[in-house]
Amino acid sequence: MMAGPVLVFDSGVGGLSVVRALRQCLPEAALAYACDNAMLPYGQREDAWLVQRIRAVCEAAVAASGCSALVVACNTASTLALEVLRASLAIPVVGTVPAIKPAARISRTRHIGLLATSATVSRPYTLQLIRDFAADCRVTRVAADVLVSEAERLVAGEPPHRAILHRALAPLWEDPHLDTVVLGCTHFPLLAPWLAEAAPRQVSWIDSGEAIARRVGQVVTALAPREGGEPSFVTAPDERLVRGLATFGFAPPRLLHPA
Ligand code: DGL
Repeated sequence: MMAGPVLVFDSGVGGLSVVRALRQCLPEAALAYACDNAMLPYGQREDAWLVQRIRAVCEAAVAASGCSALVVACNTASTLALEVLRASLAIPVVGTVPAIKPAARISRTRHIGLLATSATVSRPYTLQLIRDFAADCRVTRVAADVLVSEAERLVAGEPPHRAILHRALAPLWEDPHLDTVVLGCTHFPLLAPWLAEAAPRQVSWIDSGEAIARRVGQVVTALAPREGGEPSFVTAPDERLVRGLATFGFAPPRLLHPA
């Protein structure tokens, strides 16, 4: 059987931060991209509905792309639906969860921040990660759903609003000892330079991109070679998204019709 591409899935453009890490770590690997832009953002949706939706979109995208592995490049989806996806798909599924473990490893002050969607900051999965890997740390959890649309703006070619970024980050700075911030939403690394500029002091910013890329390299034994104009899939037509996807090497998207 021919090896298919590695399919990267997110609600919107956030998975492109993982595409960037995959391109760096596995430059020859063929990728495909799928996003559920019709239902973006996922971060404030109801869990049971979201599980069904993520499953339907991923099944449709896996079938349409002929991929050999699926990367769920979305913390909001992974902390909820990884088990369901693994049970329903016959290919390896790599998830994205907040990088609490590496953050706890490097924090000197033992006070870290978690910046993510409202769903991710309060999921049982996330709370368990904190208990397992950061039990001796204080973890300030900050819901920053507004940053999702700022990242979408950026990929569409418009600069993010600095005032919105400042307001979203403000709760992180209340304790001067916090020294490490986990970017627990894949949209946020796309804003990295703006986030660093909006911070009142230097902190370490940690995301999961590189760890996911390494994991894909371990899990996928036969990577298909990259040939340019890689396929992409959306759930609603959007001209700005077409341009954004093109800047990451993807061909104009095809429309998915999830069951
Ligand atoms: N990029 C997604 C994540 O990592 C969330 C964006 C959304 O709320 O749809 O959580």
